[in-house]
Amino acid sequence: MAGFNTKAVHEGQAPDKETGAVIPPIYQTSTYQQESPAVNKGFDYTRADNPNYRNLEAAIAALEEADFAAVFSSGLGASLGVLNLLQAGDHIVSGSDLYGGTYRLFKQWGERFGLAFTFVDAVHSINFSKAIQKNTKLFWMETPTNPLLKICDIQAIAKIAKAKKIWSVVDNTFATPYFQKPLGLGADMSLHSTTKYIGGHSDVIGGAVATNNSELKKKLNFARMALGLNPSPFDCWLTQRGLKTLGLRMERHQENAKKIVSFLKRHRLVQRICYPGFGGMVSVEFKLGIEKTKRLISSFQFFTLAESLGGVESLVNHPATMTHASMPASARAKIGLSDSLVRFSVGIEDAGDLIFDLEDALARFE
Ligand SMILES: Cc1ncc(COP(=O)(O)O)c(C=O)c1O
Repeated sequence: MAGFNTKAVHEGQAPDKETGAVIPPIYQTSTYQQESPAVNKGFDYTRADNPNYRNLEAAIAALEEADFAAVFSSGLGASLGVLNLLQAGDHIVSGSDLYGGTYRLFKQWGERFGLAFTFVDAVHSINFSKAIQKNTKLFWMETPTNPLLKICDIQAIAKIAKAKKIWSVVDNTFATPYFQKPLGLGADMSLHSTTKYIGGHSDVIGGAVATNNSELKKKLNFARMALGLNPSPFDCWLTQRGLKTLGLRMERHQENAKKIVSFLKRHRLVQRICYPGFGGMVSVEFKLGIEKTKRLISSFQFFTLAESLGGVESLVNHPATMTHASMPASARAKIGLSDSLVRFSVGIEDAGDLIFDLEDALARFE
C-alpha cells in the first residue's frame, strides 16, 4: 500500500482522460446532460454529487484508511449531516470540551428538533458508559479537544459504543489522519472541518466524514443532497490542492509547536500550557490578567488575531470571546476554559521568527 504522502498527492488525482491534463479540472456545473430521463453518467445535479466531490472524497478516504468519505459545505455542515442520521427522541453522549460551534449546533438546533444530549468529561471513558440511556444512538468525541487540547481514548469509547450498537464519531480536525486514524481504532466515522489543516491555507471552508460503513455513506450523501449541505466544486478542488502537502505541513506545524512549547515553558509570564505532545495547536494562560492578555494577543507581528486554525500562517485566538463565545460562561467554567486562555495555531514560518515575536511582545508586559 502506498504511503501517506504518496496517497495525498495521487488519490483522486488521475490525469484527465480526455485532455491528459495532469490536474483534474474544476467541474463548475450545476447540472448534467441526461441521455434519456434518469439515464445519465452517474451525475444529475451538483447539490447531490460532482466529480470534484468524488476526487476529494477518494483522497480523504485513502488518508483515513476508510472505504468511503462524504464531503460537505463546512465542518458544521458535516456535523449536521451526522446528526441527520438520528431522529427526534434520540440521545447523544458527547465530550463536554468541544468546539463552540458544535456545542451551539447541539444545544440551539439539535435540542429544538428533539435530540437530547449528555455532556461528559471524555478523558475518562467510563463516563460515556455511565451516560448511556435506552435511546442513546451516538457517541461524539473530539480529540484533541478545542481549545483545551485534551485527549480521549477512542478505542475504549468506540468499544463501549459497539457493544451497545451505538454509532461513534470522532471530530479529527485537530489531529488530522496524519497523526490519528479513528476508524482503525474502532470509531464508525471520522469528521473534519477541512477548512483547517486539510485545506491548510485559510482560503476555503469545507467539511468531510470518512466511514467504512456503506449504509452510513449513503445516509450522509442523502443528508448532503436533501438538506443542501453540499460544497462548491471549486472549494473541493482548492481543498484537494492543499491536502497534497498535509503530511509535510503537519511535520512542520509540530516541529514549530514543540519549539514554542519549550520556549513558553521557561517564560516567567506563563501560567499554564496545554499541549498534547503532537500537532500544531498550543493553548496557554499567561500571568497577566484578562485585559493585558487581550492586549498581548493583539500585538504580535506574525501571530494574526483571528478565528480558525490549521493554515500555514500562525494565528492566535481568545476562545472565551471568539471561537467559544457561543458556549455559555457557565459551560466554559465547567470544562475549565478560563477567560484568560489563549489558543495558538502554530504555522509553518521559521520557528526563530515566531519565538522572537512572542518574546518581543511579552517583554512589553514584564
Ligand atoms: C474541532 C472543530 N470541529 C468543527 C469545526 C467547524 O468547522 P467549520 O468552521 O468548517 O464549519 C471547527 C471550527 O473551528 C472546529 O475547530
